[in-house]
Amino acid sequence: MKDLVFDLINQEKTRQSEGLELIPSENYVSKDVLNAMGSVLTNKYSEGYPSFEGINEWSEDEIADKILPNYRYYGGQENVDRIERLAIDRACRLFHADHANVQPHSGAQANNAVYFAWLEPGDTVLGMSLPAGGHLTHGAKVTLSAHIYNFIGYGVTEDGDIDYDELENLALEHLPKLILIGYSAFMKIPDFARVAKIREKVQQKSEHEVLLMADMAHVAGLIAAGEHPNPLDYGFDVMTTTTHKTLRGPRGGLILSKGNVASPLKKPEKTLKNIPILIDRAVFPGTQGGPLEHIIAAKAVAFGEALKPEFKTYAKNIIKNAKALAEELKSQGFILQGNGTDNHLILINVKNSFGFDGKLYEKALDKAGLTLNANSLPHDKGAAFRPSGVRLGTPAITTRGLGTPEMKTLAHWMKRVAEICEKAETEEELNNYAEDLTVIKNEVRTLALKFPIPSV
Ligand SMILES: Cc1ncc(COP(=O)(O)O)c(C=O)c1O
Repeated sequence: MKDLVFDLINQEKTRQSEGLELIPSENYVSKDVLNAMGSVLTNKYSEGYPSFEGINEWSEDEIADKILPNYRYYGGQENVDRIERLAIDRACRLFHADHANVQPHSGAQANNAVYFAWLEPGDTVLGMSLPAGGHLTHGAKVTLSAHIYNFIGYGVTEDGDIDYDELENLALEHLPKLILIGYSAFMKIPDFARVAKIREKVQQKSEHEVLLMADMAHVAGLIAAGEHPNPLDYGFDVMTTTTHKTLRGPRGGLILSKGNVASPLKKPEKTLKNIPILIDRAVFPGTQGGPLEHIIAAKAVAFGEALKPEFKTYAKNIIKNAKALAEELKSQGFILQGNGTDNHLILINVKNSFGFDGKLYEKALDKAGLTLNANSLPHDKGAAFRPSGVRLGTPAITTRGLGTPEMKTLAHWMKRVAEICEKAETEEELNNYAEDLTVIKNEVRTLALKFPIPSV
């Protein structure tokens, strides 16, 4: 008899097919990416690294062809090595990096590995604070890294941009060893050149080298497509990312860096030039065990897809859809943080728009087949579980092929759900409007089924 789990997987397939995914950190992978993930590579242990010879120099055919000595602790690596080398090579080409570590199991693992590579316990890191839009791993008190390192948080201005003056003042006051640009809820394009200049000023006053790191988990796909500036082109030393958001790969992490690439077996001096080697040692054995080679293969496939011209069109369309949706929402009376978006992500100030909170709205939209998440706004007075905003984005619906005409429809559905919330006021009372929400859900389903998910 088939395991019940498969039944539930099928139910999830239906949920994904019949609803519209607006969570900005989610996407739909291709069949090839899915196949690589579900391959026999999951059976293999590969602690350590392949050779880095020829990466950034050889053709893909040569990389796939040559079996080289490696830095692994188990036998039987000839295929795994070549797959991981392809993943590294493609990642470096996509992001103009000297080196890539494709082994982090997740974005959080990637960030923790960089901290471990560069910092000593108690060292100071300057990153965007969680309430301003930064990620948990940028210093939220509940995380392991916040117990080890001293995080200082900068914020955003009223119009939603990074408060560069505050960033500079804090940097010159605290002389951090690491300056971090990165976020999970931010709709502007960071001024990487300005931050690089701030690093120089801090460097002049510091006795230690200052690492410039960008966590581009949300916009990595836009960067890969050349539709968003790349921090590595502006003097940043390290860029971390997840591989499953706009980049449209398997769930996982990736660390890109500039500097010397060499054997991870010998401990190098802690200098910015050696950051690629320090990072390799910090991922394995520093913070992880065996790499997930089936996921690394899927990352390689996704990076290959992102190198194709079609991916550039995809990234352009993500932004086009997000801007169209933002404009439509505004015309429906929604108040948006920063008054719109320059990337894939929109933050709605639900409280100021309609008077109810983001959680009620998230629950109601779920019942209408539209999935997004309640999110705190900068300087939010609501509790973390009942924030005043919702966050949404266009990467997943753009993968399905929805375009600007559908953004108009989407904004109308969202307005109708908001009108229901205005009447319902509480989650329990939403049940009184179940029929109205089901009407919208059926309309969403009809449209969604016209745009099939690529991997189903
Ligand atoms: C900016 C940023 N960094 C790191 C992460 C963590 O990634 P993961 O969930 O893969 O650990 C996220 C996830 O949302 C993120 O948005």
